[in-house]
Amino acid sequence: MAQSSLRRWAARVVALVVVLGLLLAAAAAEEGDGGGGDGAALMALKAGFGNAANALADWDGGRDHCAWRGVACDANSFAVLSLNLSNLNLGGEISPAIGELKALQFMDLKGNKLTGQIPDEIGDCVSLKYLDLSFNLLYGDIPFSISKLKQLEDLILKNNQLTGPIPSTLSQIPNLKILDLAQNQLTGDIPRLIYWNEVLQYLGLRGNSLTGTLSPDMCQLTGLWYFDVRGNNLTGTIPLSIGNCTSFEILYVACYDFIIDQCII
Ligand SMILES: *[C@@H]1O[C@H](CO)[C@@H](O)[C@H](O)[C@H]1NC(C)=O
Ligand SMILES: *[C@@H]1O[C@H](CO)[C@@H](O)[C@H](O)[C@H]1NC(C)=O
Ligand SMILES: *[C@@H]1O[C@H](CO)[C@@H](O)[C@H](O)[C@H]1NC(C)=O
Repeated sequence: MAQSSLRRWAARVVALVVVLGLLLAAAAAEEGDGGGGDGAALMALKAGFGNAANALADWDGGRDHCAWRGVACDANSFAVLSLNLSNLNLGGEISPAIGELKALQFMDLKGNKLTGQIPDEIGDCVSLKYLDLSFNLLYGDIPFSISKLKQLEDLILKNNQLTGPIPSTLSQIPNLKILDLAQNQLTGDIPRLIYWNEVLQYLGLRGNSLTGTLSPDMCQLTGLWYFDVRGNNLTGTIPLSIGNCTSFEILYVACYDFIIDQCII
């Protein structure tokens, strides 16, 4: 009698342990999901980079991608929030897998040797607030998909080999504060829509091949304090109305391209 009740009790304990084990395994699998997807995306990014073997040695495909170099995650979901791989001598290209990092708010890849085009999938990183790809060897057009990044505040693409026009759709990014496209090979006019932005504080366009004239609409940039269009092929005069743009603290225009008299601001 005592023995059989002991056996029944033991069976219950075993069953309880099994159930607990299953619950824990299920919880672990759930945790792995959000983070696991981002870990796989990071490994795809690494595969796209050249010379990543040393710099990203700890990106090993293991479970804890949040501890990898340059990665910071949300503490609960393990989704990647921030990626800082600046100045690591990385080559190769930016993988389209970047678009899978839906929670990514902050990305700094400046000062590497990245080449190829900026992938259209960058527009799928819907949480991005800060994007710095400056001082690389990126070429091709600025993808229109960047205009889908409605949270974006800082877009820094200077010192690359980007060509084509400045997408006028950049004006659709409501909180864009810093737009730095200097030292590329961009052509065409400065899109007028860019001027109708009260939030923009910094517009760096120096050292491209932009043509056309400056528009009187510049005065609509009421938040702007930095404006640099030196070293382009802009022509014409500086709009007189610019003297009324009192928020401009730093205004660089290439005087030699303009009527000198009007270049005294
Ligand atoms: C990224 O990391 C580098 C090196 O630690 C640091 O100097 C830089 O400020 C970081 N980038 C940003 C935008 O915080
Ligand atoms: C400006 O135009 C001239 C003549 O078309 C050209 O030779 C020069 O390289 C251009 N400069 C820039 C900065 O694009
Ligand atoms: C500058 O502003 C003043 C006062 O608002 C206005 O009378 C004047 O016409 C403006 N000048 C230019 C060149 O827009």
